[in-house]
Amino acid sequence: MSAPRILAFSGSLRKDSFNQKLAAIAAEGARDAGAEVTLIELRDFPMPLFDQDLEAASGKPEEAKRLKALFLSHQGLIIASPEYNSAYSAALKNTIDWVSRGGSPDEPPISALAGKSAVIMAASPGGLGGLRGLVPLRMLLGNLGITLLPDQIAIPSVFNAFGPDGHLVDPKQEAAVKALGAMLTKQLKKVMA
Ligand SMILES: Cc1cc2nc3c(=O)[nH]c(=O)nc-3n(C[C@H](O)[C@H](O)[C@H](O)COP(=O)(O)O)c2cc1C
Repeated sequence: MSAPRILAFSGSLRKDSFNQKLAAIAAEGARDAGAEVTLIELRDFPMPLFDQDLEAASGKPEEAKRLKALFLSHQGLIIASPEYNSAYSAALKNTIDWVSRGGSPDEPPISALAGKSAVIMAASPGGLGGLRGLVPLRMLLGNLGITLLPDQIAIPSVFNAFGPDGHLVDPKQEAAVKALGAMLTKQLKKVMA
């Protein structure tokens, strides 16, 4: 059996994003458990706001095509989502909207998303660690046919949580985030068996 392939990213476009660091830690846990992980940054896929008129006139932007191809070639998703005003980021939703679009008339809708398995997590300076944003994110992804593992993690007080090496200072937190990546790998191995 080939190794499960997991796409890992955060919903932040910020250069020093805490959520990107979090996604990288979970990716490490998934790799240690035997997955092939592709860690990307959404800032490397700059896309206009989804606009159906723009799509009708010019089709998908090249970045959206590249990103959709990446979604199609991976079975699992690790998503670390910043909390903006109690929800996931607009960048994350915009990504999902572009990636959800078909490429040809015979392509089933949301084919790049449905059937995947995912783990979600968040990090924020607040006391709840972005937990409130994970509630609508779970609903959004579930409605797209993505199986979400019940476990998730929200890291509060991020300014003190990460060390200069990008890892979590608390070894228990670091292990818990890696364990999420490992859990997704285990789940995918089951699904693919
Ligand atoms: C527009 C905006 C809204 C925000 N709303 C929340 C919020 O509702 N809850 C929260 O915990 N943090 C909130 N924050 C703070 C973010 O959690 C913080 O900027 C975080 O570092 C963003 O994630 P990143 O480091 O991955 O970019 C908000 C930040 C911005 C810019």
